[in-house]
Amino acid sequence: MTHVSIDRQPLPLIQLLFTLKQWSSVTVLTDTNTRLHCYPLIRPHLPEHHLLEMEAGEEHKNIDTCMQVWQRLTEFNLDRHALMIVLGGGVAGDLGGFCAATFKRGIDFVLMPTTLLAQVDASVGGKLGIDFQGFKNHIGVFCEPIVTLISTGFLSTLPERELRSGFAEIIKHCLISDRAMWEKVCSKPLKDQEWEPLIEHSVKFKKQVIEKDPREAGLRKILNFGHTVGHALESTFLESANRLYHGEAIAAGMLVEARIAQQKSMLSADDLAAIADYLKRTYPKVDLTPVYNEVVSRMRQDKKNKDNKILMALPEGIGHARWDVEVNPGEVEEAMNYYQVVYT
Ligand SMILES: NC(=O)c1ccc[n+]([C@@H]2O[C@H](COP(=O)([O-])OP(=O)(O)OC[C@H]3O[C@@H](n4cnc5c(N)ncnc54)[C@H](O)[C@@H]3O)[C@@H](O)[C@H]2O)c1
Ligand SMILES: [Zn+2]
Repeated sequence: MTHVSIDRQPLPLIQLLFTLKQWSSVTVLTDTNTRLHCYPLIRPHLPEHHLLEMEAGEEHKNIDTCMQVWQRLTEFNLDRHALMIVLGGGVAGDLGGFCAATFKRGIDFVLMPTTLLAQVDASVGGKLGIDFQGFKNHIGVFCEPIVTLISTGFLSTLPERELRSGFAEIIKHCLISDRAMWEKVCSKPLKDQEWEPLIEHSVKFKKQVIEKDPREAGLRKILNFGHTVGHALESTFLESANRLYHGEAIAAGMLVEARIAQQKSMLSADDLAAIADYLKRTYPKVDLTPVYNEVVSRMRQDKKNKDNKILMALPEGIGHARWDVEVNPGEVEEAMNYYQVVYT
């Protein structure tokens, strides 16, 4: 699996990159925001290069943007020995990686993730692609970058709401894999977290899981903790004026699912209380009452289910998790009510 390097500053990462190989040309892909905030931090350290900019936002993770990127790569006369550096969040990473992996049957690319979410999640696993006709990540490939370079220096310009959203994946990784790390994390508010060790921890854990279960036959499903309820919430709120960020939905999903685990005697009441306390202090309330029916019906359509049963990955004590646990709608309703009570 691809090597991931982490450093506060981008300079040592760029230096490392150019010791790996020689390329015929270098192209940097940014989005409108990373062009402004992140590109100036790497530009002085790069050799001569082409610059490409895509519009920021999930709504641009589509085939039209790909066509523009392929068009420009063609105009730049790129050959198959070219390199593309993708500087951006998960949107640019998924789309830019996909364009590179398919251009002339594939040129080398490097991911430089600039959001916390992309650094701890999208940076590992080789999943690339775009949305298509309303379906998320519908078209894509598996392809690994030459290397993934993570600089926490980029996080200083990231809007706080984005940072908080990415933090939910870190919390998830701790809850399902490492009790000691969870205790460290929940002893500090978001603003006092030290990102390098947390990102390193998340990347290492996600890598291990994928290495053990590359085809998502079992173990890899533990990464879905918080996501069965979370995805349903995210889709339910998608069309509303108060759209939820991915991590906000996952944080609510983790609390609901942790309650289900506790009701199934997989988690102690004390552990649940600690999780509830920290999530409540870190994430704003999502009003679940009006969306209960829609959430349950969306969960029933989850492609991970089997035989019409809702299947979830749930924590088994803090630091472990079990997947494919059967859950019925009544348990979900009880846990959603619990969430509402926690947040009153
Ligand atoms: N490939 C995978 O395994 C994987 C895993 C998780 C998520 N994803 C994908 O990632 C996407 C979400 O990623 P995201 O949350 O990074 O969203 P994003 O790429 O849209 O970035 C969020 C916003 O922050 C801006 N931004 C990025 N870095 C910045 C910085 N350093 N300073 C200021 N602004 C900055 C972006 O321009 C954008 O407006 C989704 O499309 C999702 O499907 C992929
Ligand atoms: Zn997620």
